[in-house]
Amino acid sequence: MDKYEYFRGLPEVGIVPRAPHAGPLLRHVYEQEHGRGGFSGKVAHTYHLYPPTNWLPGETRVLDGFAPAWESPLQPIGGTHLLLSVAPAEPARDLYRGMARIVANATAAMNVTAPAAPMDYFFEHHSATMVFFVHEGRGTLETTFGPIEYKKGDFLIVPKGIAHRFELGAGRHYYWMYESFAGDPEKAESPSTGRFITHSESDYRYPRSLDTRNEAGRFDIVSKVGDVYTRRVHPTHPFDVVGWRGDYLPYRFAVEDVRPLVADRSHVPPSGHTVFTLPGCYLCVFTVRSVEKEGMWLPFFHRNFDYLETLGYHFGDFFSGGGVVGPGMVTLHPVGLPHGPKPRAIEKWLDGKAGAVHNEVAVMADFANPTRVSAFALGLRRADYMDTWSGYTTEPRFTWRADRLDEIRRAAERLTDARDTLTPPEGD
Ligand SMILES: [Fe+2]
Repeated sequence: MDKYEYFRGLPEVGIVPRAPHAGPLLRHVYEQEHGRGGFSGKVAHTYHLYPPTNWLPGETRVLDGFAPAWESPLQPIGGTHLLLSVAPAEPARDLYRGMARIVANATAAMNVTAPAAPMDYFFEHHSATMVFFVHEGRGTLETTFGPIEYKKGDFLIVPKGIAHRFELGAGRHYYWMYESFAGDPEKAESPSTGRFITHSESDYRYPRSLDTRNEAGRFDIVSKVGDVYTRRVHPTHPFDVVGWRGDYLPYRFAVEDVRPLVADRSHVPPSGHTVFTLPGCYLCVFTVRSVEKEGMWLPFFHRNFDYLETLGYHFGDFFSGGGVVGPGMVTLHPVGLPHGPKPRAIEKWLDGKAGAVHNEVAVMADFANPTRVSAFALGLRRADYMDTWSGYTTEPRFTWRADRLDEIRRAAERLTDARDTLTPPEGD
């Protein structure tokens, strides 16, 4: 025994050899490497009771029609803003069999699932790292590295290729799932605000409790590569892991741990709320935060020329939703098409009626152009969403007036030298 305790430079749990590929223990357990970047990137080693390739001969099959809506055909979205209703739960479909694509580009995709049946298999996504957002539901994500308990408002990151299974708790379940095909999501941070805005890596929860299964039986593992789903069957439980070491791991991140950047005197742009960047996509959280006191507290009218914007509404007042958006709905704002505050929201701003708090939580994922929308998503579209801006064509304060130009010229003259007033404290 050493006199003092130490921690090692790589996380490890349970029974592991002295180092990867080294030490006498390797003659007793089976080491498996989970490697990214052609074995030169992130890596984790798991130590198994049985060889990980002990699949039963003659049992491997390609599964036709396993998750049909996940492969829903894609088409260009065109010049229309879309609001998608909540996807219906399908009682017969489990989490992956009921997975449905919403949008995708070459390197990332957004999906939704409303599972109502248990998973009777383990799953490995061989083409993407997955980021789940739990809009509704609770349960346990069982993984090779140990279980992770989750609840409403949690992100779950499941790295590419990791065997796992969702054990659903009681109640309704509704998850958005973002796929990253070309790299893992990285924590977003700005050079000028540092490592702890908008969250800290210490907020991530990696599994630490191993639940080693020394069980015999028939254990199905379904893998996905592109649109091909393959089942193989093992005679021992895939979670026969006695220990692991590495930094290629699943983890949980709670939306409550997002501590947003706020500004009293200017509107923070959406990119200021980014939590993860991934190739071809950035993922932001708009969370409960104070309203800008002097600056514009609404989103400005804007066009995003390089990204299609998706916004999943979790809970709140949704001041940007124009009165038709409810929890669980998703909006799609395509490349180039102007959008921004709905008439009622901008009236509040113009009339100086700001609240104290933006009481909302929403998850935005913006996808680099070209991004396409699925037939499944188009089946959920609400016909009336483009009309939520219609107040701009009917309400007198927004519509044509002969004296409008003169009015603006007079206002500009009056405000030429206007700026924020800073009042030093007494005595300075
Ligand atoms: Fe936008």
